[in-house]
Amino acid sequence: MNRILITGALGQLGVEFIKYFKNLNLFVLATDIRECKKDISCEFIQCDVLEKNKISDLVKKNKIDTIFHLVATLSAKGEEDPFKSWKLNIDSLQTIIKICIKNKIKNVFWPSSIAVFGTDSELENVPQNPVLNPSSIYGITKLAGEKLIEYYNQKFSLDIRSLRYPGIISMSSKPGGGTTDYVMEMIDSAKNKKKYRCFLSKKTELPMMLIDDAIQSAYQLMSAKKSCLSVSSSYNISSFSITPEILKKQILLNGFEIDVEFRPDFRQQIANSWPKKISDTKAKSDWGWKAKYNMEESIRKSLNF
Ligand code: SER
Repeated sequence: MNRILITGALGQLGVEFIKYFKNLNLFVLATDIRECKKDISCEFIQCDVLEKNKISDLVKKNKIDTIFHLVATLSAKGEEDPFKSWKLNIDSLQTIIKICIKNKIKNVFWPSSIAVFGTDSELENVPQNPVLNPSSIYGITKLAGEKLIEYYNQKFSLDIRSLRYPGIISMSSKPGGGTTDYVMEMIDSAKNKKKYRCFLSKKTELPMMLIDDAIQSAYQLMSAKKSCLSVSSSYNISSFSITPEILKKQILLNGFEIDVEFRPDFRQQIANSWPKKISDTKAKSDWGWKAKYNMEESIRKSLNF
């Protein structure tokens, strides 16, 4: 992993991966369909990931050896236009895989999500291999993607690796259109002394993770010896779980004021089909995963960012 292409590089994860890799002195080429308006300290090309020939030329010209394919429409936004979500989430993955085969690139990181689970998945503490019955289009694309990477890894000897990320908490690069976004919205409201209307009910428990742990986990997985990996689709990964009510309590405990009104909308149904907790024993035993930040530290860090 020396010369890395990041697609969807201006999104929540991309911006942080760029910083992380630049600190390691690795070459990074960033692409995104959006215009880049700030200095991201690496080469940036504005282009659509579905433009296969253009991306393939970039890969060749820049001698890319690893791709972090981060393009995706998240869960809540995905429901606005499921056909478009499938096209972006799945066609882009297929495009990247074709580019890898053509350019003999084996190493790819592709984020999956807690959205692959569903109401039959033992949601109190979901194991690595439960029944998977996602109900959002986002979850369906992530499950299809997991199956595709297993298939292509086998068929073309690729080494695409993946994590089922929980909600990622990051204050410098915000997500957009996710069901777990309420955490950042509530924290922002507290910092700006604004009232917050929460779109999930008080007691909705979901797994979350601070961005630092999300980046570290991907790096650790991508650096692990292939012979240590026993999961060929996507690894469960966990840090802590939280409800809107507990988040509010943490905000108050940190000396901020916040007035929250709970008004669940369509996102409640998505959240109800996701795990409360995740068992990540495979990630721990196979490649030594351990989250660095617990709930209290993650919230404190985000409030003081
Ligand atoms: N954070 C994502 C979402 O809420 C879940 O992977 O859509």
